Amino acid sequence: MNKTIAVIRGDGIGPEIVAQAIRVLDRIAQKYGHTFCYEEVDMGGNAIDKWGEPLPASMLEKCLASDSVLLGAVGGPKWDGQPAALRPEKGLLALRAGMGLYSNNRPARLWPQLDAASPLKPSIVARGIDFIVVRELIGGVYFGDHSTSETDGEKKATDIMAYSEHEIERIGRIGFETARKRRHKLTSVDKANVLDTSRLWRAVMHRLAQEYPDVEYSDMLVDNAAMQIVKDPSQFDVIVTENLFGDILSDEASMITGSIGMIPSSSLGEGSCGLYEPIHGSAPDIAGQDKANPIGTILSAAMMCRYSFDMPQEADAIEEAVNQALNQGLRTGDMMAEGCRLVTCTQMGDAIVSHL
Ligand code: IPM
Ligand code: MG
Repeated sequence: MNKTIAVIRGDGIGPEIVAQAIRVLDRIAQKYGHTFCYEEVDMGGNAIDKWGEPLPASMLEKCLASDSVLLGAVGGPKWDGQPAALRPEKGLLALRAGMGLYSNNRPARLWPQLDAASPLKPSIVARGIDFIVVRELIGGVYFGDHSTSETDGEKKATDIMAYSEHEIERIGRIGFETARKRRHKLTSVDKANVLDTSRLWRAVMHRLAQEYPDVEYSDMLVDNAAMQIVKDPSQFDVIVTENLFGDILSDEASMITGSIGMIPSSSLGEGSCGLYEPIHGSAPDIAGQDKANPIGTILSAAMMCRYSFDMPQEADAIEEAVNQALNQGLRTGDMMAEGCRLVTCTQMGDAIVSHL
């Protein structure tokens, strides 16, 4: 197969981790007889420096014209003082919205080799951690009006959280369909005891649940969900939730699996073109030092093969190569443990490529 991949190396550790994922993709292309063409795209802080805006229209067009987008990470202290419209994160949000990527899939799975790195008690970890957070990605408070006004010398800020039925229904269906491919259990997370958006969310979800009688459905309030994720994560199979709650809960979910550096994600809309990125940030403190964990990005490339390119064998091969590198005892600093060997970002890439 012939695929064009838009590549956003981004800021901080972004370029280092993306370089390793591309080596892995090149090896896959060679091994399975595919051709991957890479289109470089500027987005985030580097785009602000180069073009004066975080996502120039021509860059969004390149992404829309590709078969999928691979992203490292964007942002950093250099751009912290910028006005809202000129922050690196704005580029990411504009990309998600511009590509119509409403469904964000973030797996929280404990690799058995890393169980000692989980901050949870061994007795909790032993029950297993393997769930997915399905996060609504282009609605809610992220995309409502934001404003700051000033009266009598006092400032007041407002952010609007809005959801319409069709926005809830389309992500709700992804939640049910995802559960159907797994252990048939769906938890919908909301704050229906306080928010109107959540009450509508819950009503739509209950209507959908009638159509999926084979899926064991339940509602959970977001504060309780935050608690249950650390109390007994084994109870979860698929969590579906709105944008802001999903942002917060997916960071929590990643931490209990040992390292946020391991977690990939996919963002999809109606077509097969998606955005694939690790869920961690640009880690400016270790940027340029070849210390970052490239596995979240490499596993994102595996998800790209699986969900956008219909290459399940290739995806399995990448995941197995990661598994073997971990079995060898290789660890980057974020997941280092006693008896293991500390390796650089490049050395981790070397090892994973060598297993392919
Ligand atoms: C994420 C990030 C982004 C978000 C930021 C960088 C805008 O935290 O992908 O989880 O809040 O969605
Ligand atoms: Mg986040």
